Amino acid sequence: MELREWAIRILSGETLEEKLLDPDELTDREPGPPLFWNEPSRPPGMGFNRRTKSEKLPPFQVHGSQDNRAICLHRFAGHELLAVEIMAFALLAFPDAPKHFRRGVANTLREEQGHVQLYMKRMSELGLQFGDLPLYRHFWSHTPHLTSPLRYVSLMSLTFEQANLDFAPLYGKSFAHFGDQASAALMQKILADEINHVSFGWQWLRKLKEPSQSEWQTWQDSLPPIMSPKRGKGFVVHEEHRRQAGLSTEWIENLKNI
Ligand SMILES: [Fe+2]
Ligand SMILES: [Fe+2]
Repeated sequence: MELREWAIRILSGETLEEKLLDPDELTDREPGPPLFWNEPSRPPGMGFNRRTKSEKLPPFQVHGSQDNRAICLHRFAGHELLAVEIMAFALLAFPDAPKHFRRGVANTLREEQGHVQLYMKRMSELGLQFGDLPLYRHFWSHTPHLTSPLRYVSLMSLTFEQANLDFAPLYGKSFAHFGDQASAALMQKILADEINHVSFGWQWLRKLKEPSQSEWQTWQDSLPPIMSPKRGKGFVVHEEHRRQAGLSTEWIENLKNI
């Protein structure tokens, strides 16, 4: 299947099966004209809700409750599904990007589909099904800004995914603290993959930036005006995960100081 057709099926899919479609063979011979997808179709009951106070995640001290951990996993699964869709968006929006870039986005998309499935499995073990709770637009609010591969990696890989280098281990630690080793192991797996996803973004930021500009400056300039670079980190900056992703010492120091 062509990457373009795959992306269209994911974005227009009205079942989770379509969203998680994983063809045996993916080709990229006819990427077609740029197509900026407006908003994804969703399975019944999984459309975007308005933001409310209930959007707040259960705080760490109540993670001893299985239901509260399941609520956290549901939110994370929602983020994974959004990541799947945003990556499909990128495949359609940037047909002229280097083949190597498109292949990397496709590989990452597949891993995000895997993450949705891992969360679904663990959630159901905790008594919750994907779609039982509201889902939010989140990343899709920023797609009008995603007009180039550089902007894409700056927002997706180097902001949302970079922040997960702090949040995934934080939640993993909390789940382990309350004896939920299975959920903790899941967060560990997510972290390992996320390190690679951030690494992908970093490598392409370096390839796509103006030679005279630093990585840090390029990243700041490529974010939507309403998006603070602070969104690229959690409460504690896990330096070792960033080093594993290849981020420079200068970048890590700058991040700690914003
Ligand atoms: Fe993911
Ligand atoms: Fe990711």
